Amino acid sequence: MGTQNGTSSSPNSVGWKGIDPNDAEVVRLKEHLAANNGIDGIDTVKPDDVERAVELFHRDGFVVVTDVLSEEQIEVLATGCDEVISEILALDDGRSGNRGSHRYSFGGSSMTRSQLHRPEWQMLLELPIVHQYLRAIFGGPDYTLRAASGDFCLPGAIQYQPLHSDAADWQPEGIMSKFSSFHDPRGRVSVRDLPCPYVCINFIPQDITRLNGPIRQVVGTQNSPAPIPSLDAEPEWMRLSTVCPVSAGAMMIRDVRAWHGGTPNLSDTIRSIPNLEFYAPWFREPTVPGISYDDFKKLSPEAQRAVRFSVADSSETLDTGVTMRAP
Ligand SMILES: [Fe+2]
Repeated sequence: MGTQNGTSSSPNSVGWKGIDPNDAEVVRLKEHLAANNGIDGIDTVKPDDVERAVELFHRDGFVVVTDVLSEEQIEVLATGCDEVISEILALDDGRSGNRGSHRYSFGGSSMTRSQLHRPEWQMLLELPIVHQYLRAIFGGPDYTLRAASGDFCLPGAIQYQPLHSDAADWQPEGIMSKFSSFHDPRGRVSVRDLPCPYVCINFIPQDITRLNGPIRQVVGTQNSPAPIPSLDAEPEWMRLSTVCPVSAGAMMIRDVRAWHGGTPNLSDTIRSIPNLEFYAPWFREPTVPGISYDDFKKLSPEAQRAVRFSVADSSETLDTGVTMRAP
């Protein structure tokens, strides 16, 4: 497999399976995205502008903070992602993906639903800036880790992922995740009415461009009660509302309730956005252990505090295997 930067073996060996990059429709879409993709005038902030970042986060439902990772950290993270991707792709020759064709969830490909057992994701958890920003967003230090996950898409992921929200109210038939538990029996308050209950921080190990599958975010929709449009009903401006360009080393903090979705990767390299997900101090849903007690003991006190609900008991062995269908 090639590296994230496509510098070794041919990227075609991992992507464009069963899909012709020279197909007329694909070429047309590529030209359209090259000319039009991306949110106009996107605001980004530098790491020390925490106050402005928190303001943008609450206004827009997401914020991009640039220059968070060092060159060395980018390299460690990119290499770790490549290793996990190799393991996953070894199980999926046809590139069916587990979030649509050529599209995968890092957490959804792990038996623990998380990559917290990996040193690269633990490195992210040890970044002081992560905790500085979480304290600023949540107003205190008692937030907890939900998962260490993220996603990646291969070249040749030509489909749009439908717009969706990653937090939902509890449903009797479990039509959303079985981990969605918020429920008001009076029917008055939805998870969408709350202050932000859960954030996702994506870390960027390679440049994000108009063509390599930037995430699309519909600005300011985190509290919207409106139904989320299906792919057929989605207007073109939403399809083009993507977060790009973003340079490697940035982090993107998202209120997971804001409408978002994956977009086509028509480049010749893989696009990864590993993440850490955190619950507000006052919110919690069922979590699954993602780190062994031995590894937990090696973390800093600040990181240990954040993962206190994600640690396995010292008597338990964690099954950290790769799977195409997480339990
Ligand atoms: Fe999502």
